[in-house]
Amino acid sequence: MVNNKATLKVAGKQIDLNILKGTLGPDVIDVSSLVKNDYFTYDPGFLSTAACESKITFIDGDKGILLYRGYPIDQLAMKSNFVEVCYLLLNGELPNQIQYDEFCKAINRHTMVHEQMRNFFNGFRRDAHPMAVMVGVVGALSAFYHDTLDIKNPEHRVVSAFRLIAKMPTIAAMCHKYSVGQPFMPPQNHMSYAENFLHMMFSTPCEETKPNPILVRALDQILTLHADHEQNASTSTVRLAGSTGANPFACISAGIAALWGPAHGGANEAALNMLHEIGDSSRIPKYIARAKDPNDPFRLMGFGHRVYKNYDPRAKVMRKTCYEVLEAVGAHDNPLFKIAMELEKIALEDSYFVERKLYPNVDFYSGITLSAIGIPINMFTVIFALARTIGWIAHWNEMISSPYRLSRPRQLYTGSVERDYVSINQRSE
Ligand code: ACO
Repeated sequence: MVNNKATLKVAGKQIDLNILKGTLGPDVIDVSSLVKNDYFTYDPGFLSTAACESKITFIDGDKGILLYRGYPIDQLAMKSNFVEVCYLLLNGELPNQIQYDEFCKAINRHTMVHEQMRNFFNGFRRDAHPMAVMVGVVGALSAFYHDTLDIKNPEHRVVSAFRLIAKMPTIAAMCHKYSVGQPFMPPQNHMSYAENFLHMMFSTPCEETKPNPILVRALDQILTLHADHEQNASTSTVRLAGSTGANPFACISAGIAALWGPAHGGANEAALNMLHEIGDSSRIPKYIARAKDPNDPFRLMGFGHRVYKNYDPRAKVMRKTCYEVLEAVGAHDNPLFKIAMELEKIALEDSYFVERKLYPNVDFYSGITLSAIGIPINMFTVIFALARTIGWIAHWNEMISSPYRLSRPRQLYTGSVERDYVSINQRSE
C-alpha cells in the first residue's frame, strides 16, 4: 500500500519515491525507480533493505516479537506442534481437524526416500560432515523426483513441498546413521514427526528405542522455533536461487549451504564446541575477556543476534524447555551444562553484554538441549535445516505464486578503470 512520498535531492535533481506501508513494522521507501535516474542504493549486509514483500513471518527485534502468520511464537511453541505449524506457514491459516488429518496423511505418504538414494550415500566418506552430505543429497532429490518439477504448476509445487517436509527427517537421520556405520532405519508413519526422527536416529534393527515424551516434545518445540525467521541469509538464498527458475530441491539445497555458516545455523554447533573448548568453569573469565577484547576475533557463540536487540522470544521458550530436558535426563551436574549456565548468568549481568544487548540466542539453548537429548554435535545444524525447510519452501512458494523478478543486486565498483591488455613479455616484474 502506497502512503505518501519521500523526496530525494541529488545533484540538483529531485526524485520522488513512494513510501510503502505494511500491516506491521516500519514504513519502507521504494527505491526501485532510482535506477531510471542512474543511481543505485548502497547497503552492504542489507541492513536497511527489504528485498521482497511477504505475508509469512513478522519480527520486531527491538521488542522481541516473532509472529508466524500473525500468531506469537511462544503460543505456537506451547500449544501447537511442528506439523500444524508447517500447515500454517505453507497455507496462511491454521487447519481444522479434517485439513490437519489430510495434511498429516499427505506428509506420511512421502516419508520414504527412493531406494536408489541409499547408493548415493555410499559415495561420501563416513567421516564427512553431515551438512556436506545434506547439501548433496537434498540437491539430488531433483534427480529422483523430476515428475513434479514444473514450478509454474501449483500442484507440482505442493507435492514438492510435501516431499521436502516428509523426506528431510529421513535424509537427516540417514546422514547420522551413515556416519556411525549403522543401517538406515525406515520411517514409522504411526509416530509423530519428532518421535519418528528420534526413532530413525537412535533405534537399530536389533533394538527399538522408545524416546522419552519430554524429549520428543522438546525436539518438536526446537523444530517449531526454527521453522521460519523471515528474510534471514538462508531464506534470502532460497528466494534468490528460486528467482532464476531453479527447481525447489536445488533451491533448498542452496539454503542448506547458506545455513551451514557459524554466523547463521552453524551457531548451535559452534556454541557447544566452545563449551567443550572452555572445558572448566575456572577458564570462563579468560573466555569472557577474549570476547570483550576488540583485538581478538573470538566471540561468545550463541550470544547476540542481527535482528534481536532484546531477548530473542524463541530463546525464552527454549530456555525453559532446556531446563526441563536437563532435569528429565538428570544432566544438571554435567560439567558442560554447568559451564553453559554460568556463561548465561555472566552474559546477562556483565555490562559489555548488557550494553550491546547481547543476549543468549535460541541456538545457545537449543544446542544444550539437543546435546542433552543425545544428538551428536555435528547433527545440530542438520536439525536446524530440517526445521527451516518449511520456512524456505513457504517463502519459495509465496514468491513463485506471485509476480516476481530475477534477483540481481548491483554494486559500487571500486576496481580499475578500463585499460588495454598488455602481453606477458611486456609486463614489468
Ligand atoms: N560475543 C562478543 N561480542 C559480540 C558478540 C558475541 N557473540 N556479538 C556481537 N558482539 C559485539 C561486537 O564485537 C560489536 O562490539 P563493538 O560495538 O564494540 O564493536 C557489537 O557486539 C555489535 O556486533 P555486530 O557484529 O555489529 O552485530 P551483528 O548484528 O552484525 O552480529 C551476530 C550478529 C553475527 C549474530 C553476532 O552477534 C555473532 O557473531 N554472534 C555469535 C554467533 C551466533 O551465535 N550466531 C547465531 C545467530 S542466531 C541464528 O542464526 C539463528
